[in-house]
Amino acid sequence: MIKIAVLGYGTIGSGVVEVLEKNRGIITRRAGEEISVKYILDLREFPGDPYEDRIVHDYEIIRSDPEIMIVVEAMGGEEPAHTFARNAILAGKHFATSNKALIAKYGPELIALAQERSLNCLFEASVGGGIPIIRPLNSCLTADVIEEISGILNGTTNYMMTEMTEEGSEFVEVLKDAQAKGFAEADPTADIEGYDACRKIAILTSLICGKTVDYEDIPTEGISNITATDIKYATALGRKIKLIASSFKVGDKYCALVAPFLLAPSSPLHGVDGVFNAIFVKGNMLGDAMFYGSGAGKLPTASAVVADVVDIVRHKNVSITLQWTAEKMELADCRCLKYQYFVRTADSAKTVEEAFGPVTFVSSEGETAFITPVMDGYEFEARSAGLPGIIKSIRMR
Ligand code: HSE
Repeated sequence: MIKIAVLGYGTIGSGVVEVLEKNRGIITRRAGEEISVKYILDLREFPGDPYEDRIVHDYEIIRSDPEIMIVVEAMGGEEPAHTFARNAILAGKHFATSNKALIAKYGPELIALAQERSLNCLFEASVGGGIPIIRPLNSCLTADVIEEISGILNGTTNYMMTEMTEEGSEFVEVLKDAQAKGFAEADPTADIEGYDACRKIAILTSLICGKTVDYEDIPTEGISNITATDIKYATALGRKIKLIASSFKVGDKYCALVAPFLLAPSSPLHGVDGVFNAIFVKGNMLGDAMFYGSGAGKLPTASAVVADVVDIVRHKNVSITLQWTAEKMELADCRCLKYQYFVRTADSAKTVEEAFGPVTFVSSEGETAFITPVMDGYEFEARSAGLPGIIKSIRMR
């Protein structure tokens, strides 16, 4: 019998307990041993809960119990998750987490700490919720140089963009609706400003380059300034606006960016709507691959966490190879990436042509809207300086 402790009895933590309970038979067969939750750490009491007797409030009980082989962290945030993770590994316990904030900041430290002790630190659920992406990158795509990873990595914003497209509503109304339905959090900043997607693309980029990408180095633009008017233009152009987190190999560096994009129907990410996530991967041998599914939510995320627990049980005396060192990966300037840009401006068509040369004008009312030729970010910035009335610019792909 493998004894585990779950830190946090919120959405994901209770999901982990539920998955282990509901799929006990198959999980036991696949792990080779039964997995039992001995403790659940939470500040709250859960009177009447079937696991009420396993609730503890003091982490030390878990850390000092030699029976606990795996600590599962589902609290979220950097602290105390980081301290608990370190202490668990230092006490000789394996560690699994769904926490992208923890892994984006402390991933290499925790991985090294675990590997020095022949332990495992796994985090499949930290990116893409229930979608397998960390393990495929780490195990299945080891023969490839990954040239691009682009994804819809945030379910909340994808739901909001889909609703704005389908209902024609304004951002604020859709945000309220998403909060009422429980998709968006009371404080939606991390989702709508792109910080959540930024941490996730930092983790994926670190894994494909084997070094540490600092999420603070990634230019990040959210969706909070996307309006119903922008969406109308997108629809008229046969496109959809979506928050895309991408990473491209440029020479021996990577270049990462989080921003809203106007996606053409030919984009593999164009049809990914609602709360779904998808990750597009281009390998130099593989070519294109897509990973699609439930990127958030209780049971999908818990399913990925429990899969990590099963993997740990199968590798309890050996560290699963994970190449992610603390060496910093300097990112290339994302302005080297070339795109067409969709621009709305208060400037006249004549001023636009003086600044940009020949462009494709788009039907508009009371403003000028146009699409530039393909150009890099340096050129776009230089030419935009000639347009003092720019209202909005959105990259296209
Ligand atoms: N807030 C995140 C999302 C949860 O909306 O995708 C999953 O990381």
